[in-house]
Amino acid sequence: MKILAINGSHRKGRNTARMLEAVLEEARSLGAETELLELSDYNIKPCRACNHCLRAIECSIQDDDIKLITDKMLIADAIVLGSPVYFFNVTGLMKNFMDRTRWLHMCRNVLYGKVGAAVTHAGLRNGGQEFTQMILERYLASHGMIVVDSRDQESGIYNYGPTGTLFERLEGSRVIWKKGVEEDLLALHECRTLGKNIVRQVQLLEASSIRRGPVVANTPSSPFSC
Ligand SMILES: Cc1cc2nc3c(=O)[nH]c(=O)nc-3n(C[C@H](O)[C@H](O)[C@H](O)COP(=O)(O)O)c2cc1C
Repeated sequence: MKILAINGSHRKGRNTARMLEAVLEEARSLGAETELLELSDYNIKPCRACNHCLRAIECSIQDDDIKLITDKMLIADAIVLGSPVYFFNVTGLMKNFMDRTRWLHMCRNVLYGKVGAAVTHAGLRNGGQEFTQMILERYLASHGMIVVDSRDQESGIYNYGPTGTLFERLEGSRVIWKKGVEEDLLALHECRTLGKNIVRQVQLLEASSIRRGPVVANTPSSPFSC
């Protein structure tokens, strides 16, 4: 079982990356093979809205790094997206990446049946995490993916999902901030539960007779061409 995490933060290895790592760590402990990909390491040009992907299962822009990422998505059983909140939304990097994956669902749902999940991190306590979480989850669902969240089968509800914040508490009117997500025990708990849920969902799909995929094929002769 392969799980791919994609971080849309403009800062590598920081809060969102640590949340994704917590998801992957749990999944690894249950036997999954994992990879964390930082979008900031890749050159991704913006979608030019040429609509080539309405006629072919490919993107017309071939001279950047998007294929390196989508090739990894095609062979993954589960994809976890992470984004910090930028103005109640995903980051520019994440949105740019999303737009460039349009070819994966216009003619066929190429990612259909894979498992998808999302984590978000923001500075403020109610800084737009839920909006951003929904945007990421709607994106995954729009590709025909099965979206799982961090609801725990064994325990009660602690939070809506894997959403972190730097807000700690008020002392008078002074805000005390967390140093980082490592101090946000609730967010990390949600991330670990998400990791467990992703593995369970992939196992359930593997055990069922539901056809998953198509996972590859992007040639004119393939059964998946438009
Ligand atoms: C351009 C920009 C916009 C931001 N907008 C918000 C926001 O709307 N709400 C919020 O709570 N935090 C906002 N933040 C703070 C980030 O969400 C926060 O610092 C987050 O922890 C960054 O994640 P990272 O450590 O993975 O980079 C913004 C930060 C930047 C740089």
